[in-house]
Amino acid sequence: MTSTPKKSKKASSSKSGKNAKSAKKTTLHYTTPGLDTKTAERVVALLQDRLHACNDLHLTLKHVHWNVVGPQFIAVHEMIDPQVEAVRGFADDLAERIATMGGSPKGTPGAIVAERTWDDYEIGRAGTQQHLGALDVVYRGVITSYREGIEELGDLDPITEDMFIAQTEQLELFHWFVRAHLEDTGGRLSTEGADSEVAAARAAG
Ligand SMILES: [Fe+2]
Repeated sequence: MTSTPKKSKKASSSKSGKNAKSAKKTTLHYTTPGLDTKTAERVVALLQDRLHACNDLHLTLKHVHWNVVGPQFIAVHEMIDPQVEAVRGFADDLAERIATMGGSPKGTPGAIVAERTWDDYEIGRAGTQQHLGALDVVYRGVITSYREGIEELGDLDPITEDMFIAQTEQLELFHWFVRAHLEDTGGRLSTEGADSEVAAARAAG
């Protein structure tokens, strides 16, 4: 889902990186004061790519919330909902930033599917460890793409960069919540070396 690049690996494209290639460029008729139109158009493309990633991620997290089974069900089921709420909030902030900059945020399911560069989440009903293993890969992809965006935004728009940084901090925290279930007392992750959701689910399960 939320992270595997269709066109390649989830981990790297997930909701990521070459990211904003997928988002079609929009013509802006106005933007925020002090920013030129060409720069603003690129910033809007980066925002739109993250908007797709967050919309995909909060839906995928709910899918996991509904499909986990096993003895640790309630712990994982309940851990997921605050992440859903936070990521929905990120999507709202990203979309409103696009509108603030004179763009038109795309939030329909069809736009996500048409423009995302990663595959749909691949795990259905499965054990908690399997879903957490797959979510490790999802978060790797999402966070990697955020960091790529931050790097580019440093030269374009520090205000949007600041938003990306704040969201990345929360996503990295959620990623740790997931990874803490996959880690042994020596700090080794069961998903080490697994770069697809299916492989990570198998390794973790
Ligand atoms: Fe629920």
